[in-house]
Amino acid sequence: MALQLGDVAPDFTAETTQGTISFHEWLGDGWGVLFSHPKDFTPVCTTELGEVSRLKGEFDKRNAKVIGLSVDPLESHERWMGDIADATGHSLNFPLIADPDRKVADLYGMIHPNADNTLTVRSVFVIGPDKKVKLTITYPASTGRNFEEILRVIDSLQLTAGYSVATPVNWHDGEDVIIVPAVSDEDAKEKFPKGFRAIKPYLRYTPQPNR
Ligand code: BEZ
Repeated sequence: MALQLGDVAPDFTAETTQGTISFHEWLGDGWGVLFSHPKDFTPVCTTELGEVSRLKGEFDKRNAKVIGLSVDPLESHERWMGDIADATGHSLNFPLIADPDRKVADLYGMIHPNADNTLTVRSVFVIGPDKKVKLTITYPASTGRNFEEILRVIDSLQLTAGYSVATPVNWHDGEDVIIVPAVSDEDAKEKFPKGFRAIKPYLRYTPQPNR
């Protein structure tokens, strides 16, 4: 069965462009983002890896480690790294897993045989400090992902992990959030001293509590 939200992210040992890693040990106590690429030396993947390298500082600020995967061997990844820097202006600054036997790809269900028998789709897994899967997204090979969206989701996940709130459509860090329905109005007055406005009894906005 496909990995689902709340499942423990499977552990594995793999070769990467930054040495051999044991995934859970490498994650440590923080957040993680594992994402797959269909193949080395492909145009969309090249742009994505440059972009994640550009955004690496933003992931660091959120205590989130990033790691890519492509089902090609390490020697191929190492040659591709030069192209990524040339083409995007950003050197790869996080590990890229070499998975030529598709061990990790199979563990995470990154190959969707009815889309392609051998290449991975563009999977994203956000993993929490408890090693559980908090988000999965699957894109087709032909569509590059929006990694600003992954950062936005991490902001939401980190906020909702700490407070009894959810985040509304298109929310960005700093904007008002929603008080979850399980919190009564009476409790909300205590929990959210900045106050709240009720559009409906079940739709109550409050300023972001950690700001
Ligand atoms: C790409 O990264 O450009 C790509 C990879 C596989 C299929 C289509 C596009």
